[in-house]
Amino acid sequence: MKVDGRHFCSIWLEPDGWSVGAIDQRRLPHDFVVARLTTCDAAVDAIRSMLVRGAPLIGATAAYGVALAMRADGSDAALDHACRTLIATRPTAINLKWALDEMRLALRPLPSSQRAAAAFSRAAAIAEEDIAINRRIGEHGLALIEAIAAKKPPGERVNVLTHCNAGWLATVDWGTATAPIYLAHDRGHPVHVWVDETRPRNQGASLTAWELGHHGVPHTVIPDNTGGHLMQHGMVDLVIVGTDRVTANGDVCNKIGTYLKALAAHDNRVPFYVALPSPTIDFSVDDGIRQIPIEQRSADEVTDMTGRTADGRIETVRIVPDGSPVANYGFDVTPARLVTGLITERGVLKAERDALATAFPERIAAAAE
Ligand code: MRU
Repeated sequence: MKVDGRHFCSIWLEPDGWSVGAIDQRRLPHDFVVARLTTCDAAVDAIRSMLVRGAPLIGATAAYGVALAMRADGSDAALDHACRTLIATRPTAINLKWALDEMRLALRPLPSSQRAAAAFSRAAAIAEEDIAINRRIGEHGLALIEAIAAKKPPGERVNVLTHCNAGWLATVDWGTATAPIYLAHDRGHPVHVWVDETRPRNQGASLTAWELGHHGVPHTVIPDNTGGHLMQHGMVDLVIVGTDRVTANGDVCNKIGTYLKALAAHDNRVPFYVALPSPTIDFSVDDGIRQIPIEQRSADEVTDMTGRTADGRIETVRIVPDGSPVANYGFDVTPARLVTGLITERGVLKAERDALATAFPERIAAAAE
C-alpha cells in the first residue's frame, strides 16, 4: 500500500539480491524508518523486538531469516540452528512454524551448496503468496461490505470495527482484516473504520490508524473499551479482525481483547468476522483455549507509555505506581461459536471443522503426515 504516495510492502528483498529491507514498526507512527537485515540473528531480533510483527509478516521474516542463515552456511546444522532459533522468538502466531516447515521442506533435499539460492527463492515466494492471498481475502470480504452497504440509504457509510493491526504492516501487503476495507474504499464505497487503540502496545492507534490515514481511509481511533457502547447504539455494522492462529474447529486466537469484542458483537447481533490466510490455520489443534500457547510479554509494555512530546521528542513515561504487579497476556481465544464467518482466500467459511477441512484438504493431509 502507499506511504506518502509511494508503494511499500512491509518487507522486501533489497536490489543487492540478498539483504532484506523491513519497515521498523517500533518507530511508527512518529518516524518512518527502514531497517536492513543481513543475518539470521538480525531477523531473530527483528521478530523478538517487534521491529516486525503480525502473524503473516512474522512468517515471511522467518523465511528470509533462514535464507540469510543459508547464505552464511548451507549445512544441515546451520539449517537446524536457524529454525530452532527462529521458532523460539514468538510462541502464538502459527505462521512462524508454517513458514519454517515450508523452508525446511524446500531445503532439506538439496546439497548445501544450492541451499542459499533456493532459500531466497522460497522466501520470496512465501512473501508473494501472502500478497496474493490477502488480495483474495479482500475480494471475499468486500462482498460482505457491499451486502451491508446495499441495505443502507445510498451514500451512507459502512462502519467497520477492527482490533490491533491486521493491516498491510502485519502482512506483506494489503493486510487481512484491512484488505476488504482498502478494496471497498478504492472502489468508492463509503467506509469508515473504528480503530481500537489496542493496549498495551497500541498497534491500533500507532499502526492501523497510520496506514489507514496514509491510504486516505476515514477512521476514528477509540479506547479499547468503547466498542460495546458503539455496538449498542447501532454505530458498528460489522467487526473484522485478524488472527494469529485458528484451530481446526474454528477457534480464533488474536490480540488480547478480541474475545471481549466478540462477546459484545454477539450480544448486539453485530456480525463478527475473522480474516485469515490459510497458513494461519493450525489443523493439529482443536481446542484453542486449552492448546494454544499464549505469549506473556514484559511488564514495561503495561507500566510505560511512549509518545511524542509537543516539542517533537520521543519520550517514555511510567503510568503505573512503582511496585504494582502487572500481567501482560498478549493474546486471547474467541470460541468458534462467537465467529460469524472466517474470511479466507477460498471464500467466507463457517468457523467449523468441516468447512475448514473441505476448503483446505491439502493442509489436513499435511497435518496428518
Ligand atoms: O503482537 P502482534 O502485534 O504481532 O499481534 C498481531 C495481531 O494480533 C494481529 O491482529 C494478528 O497477527 C493478525 S495479523 C494479520
